[in-house]
Amino acid sequence: MTNFDHLAEQMDQIVARYPKSRSAVMPLLHLLQSDQGAVTMEGISVIADRLELTTAEVTAVASFYTMYKRRDVGRHHIGVCTNTLCAVLGGDAVYDAIAQRLSAGHNESTADGQFHLERIECQAACTHAPVMTVDWEFMDNQTPSSAVEVIDALARGDRVESTRGPVIRDFAATEHTMAFPDDGLAGEGTPVDAIMLAGLTVAGELNMTAPKPSSSAQSKEDHS
Ligand code: FES
Repeated sequence: MTNFDHLAEQMDQIVARYPKSRSAVMPLLHLLQSDQGAVTMEGISVIADRLELTTAEVTAVASFYTMYKRRDVGRHHIGVCTNTLCAVLGGDAVYDAIAQRLSAGHNESTADGQFHLERIECQAACTHAPVMTVDWEFMDNQTPSSAVEVIDALARGDRVESTRGPVIRDFAATEHTMAFPDDGLAGEGTPVDAIMLAGLTVAGELNMTAPKPSSSAQSKEDHS
């Protein structure tokens, strides 16, 4: 049986952020995942006890969001977006190149536990398609060869930076930042650039404005 005592203090810190303890369920799941490599049933029981929820309620959250993993994903989680825009611009070719390099398919890990590959849905990064994520950090505008170079560099233990700046650590470290987004690392990198703002910029140049909400929508807003 796994002992979770070493997490007690961090769990208390997370729970203390919220007026209602049940609001802590998602960061606690990230903390668990950081520590255990996955969301385990034992960990779900510990969280349920701490938040006075049922294991079914915690499991419902853990099974709804795909970022919570029920199996250990190993050192680096590699996500390749093959949703519409990324696919049109080469996402499937990027995925195929990585799958071949790792000899792993969707939701599979390499034998040495270093990499886990997943086809992922749109990451709201379509302006930089096709995108890959490494431990949830963005690698924008990938090609099959650039994506394989990233994998090769990680396999050698080289320092690798996201195309948006942050240094790639590992899956566990990223998960810990998600549990503690005030650790000073969550805001690293370039959150927005000129390409992402292109539509807004053109709209500004053309003096375009959003249509006013309808009177019924405005009325609902006034009463909310
Ligand atoms: S379709 Fe890949 S980021 Fe949107």
